[in-house]
Amino acid sequence: MHQPDRVTLREVAPRDGLQNEPPVPAAGKIRLIDALARTGLSRIEAVSFVSPKAVPQMADAAEVWAAVEKHPGIRYSALAPNRRGVERALDAGFTAVEVVVSASETHNRANIGRSVAESLAELPDICAVAKEHLAAVEVIIATSFGCPFEGDVDPGQVARIAEAAEAAGAGRVAFGDTTGMGTPRRVTDLLDAVSTGLPMLMHFHDTRGTALANLLTALDRGVTEFDASVGGIGGCPFAPGASGNVATEEVVHMLHDMGVDTGVDLDALISTAELAQEIVGRPLESGVLRAGPRTRLSPKP
Ligand code: COA
Ligand code: ZN
Repeated sequence: MHQPDRVTLREVAPRDGLQNEPPVPAAGKIRLIDALARTGLSRIEAVSFVSPKAVPQMADAAEVWAAVEKHPGIRYSALAPNRRGVERALDAGFTAVEVVVSASETHNRANIGRSVAESLAELPDICAVAKEHLAAVEVIIATSFGCPFEGDVDPGQVARIAEAAEAAGAGRVAFGDTTGMGTPRRVTDLLDAVSTGLPMLMHFHDTRGTALANLLTALDRGVTEFDASVGGIGGCPFAPGASGNVATEEVVHMLHDMGVDTGVDLDALISTAELAQEIVGRPLESGVLRAGPRTRLSPKP
């Protein structure tokens, strides 16, 4: 199997995780982001600028961001569904934004209330506005590996959206497995279909237990950037059955044992997963959080 020396992880629990939990007070969000920043992670998706009616959990995004400790070595970013959200993110001082569009019509309508074509039509303007602010734009293509409403998604459709993102001036593209419908076969099919020159990132939810297998498949095909969520919290409020992202500590635990560097301190990350568990107030499903790393031995019987 091909493996790189290093993988870059973007932590998405503060956004993808907390948007799908009962609202957490701003202080809890700030605590979580600041704790994540001390684990060695180099990228953190901190908040989203979306309609507070659609996602009340993110209504305090600007307040949270204003209070977060800004570590110079970390690229913090915000997710936005439209130009209005991007402008709010830029006004708040973000220099990296992620614009989400779904590969499937039904999910795009459910998630952001318009057609895929309408979302794509806005992208050139969004990229131009971001450029004026010297901010980077990534396009996240949700439901890239399947749609909970429509079923299989044509990898050719995903490839066309990636091309549109590149043509519009985006600097990166991410493929989201919003509801964990991806499998290694689907990851291979997608990478065979996509021919963008942009840096690519993969975002796997572990709804059906395939996230780590998907990640290894993508790694073998040369992808070195992944989203992950501490404790495995997360989901999409507009996709029935969506559960959390692959847990960051499970990814780090596996990659380090393979000799792939992530720059992340696993013990600090596990402590942060414990904090995430305390903040959301329910037991989290991450195996590495529950059992500890494979190097943590039990007392001999
Ligand atoms: N941030 C805050 N408010 C926004 C906004 C944004 N980015 N974009 C639009 N709004 C406001 C509008 O001003 C309007 O406010 P009003 O009711 O007070 O007049 C309201 O939201 C509705 O806007 P409208 O253009 O009619 O669209 P809509 O009701 O179809 O909502 C979105 C569209 C995109 C704003 C909404 O669906 C959304 O925020 N979706 C995000 C979903 C999400 O975060 N999913 C998980 C991440 S993938
Ligand atoms: Zn997600």
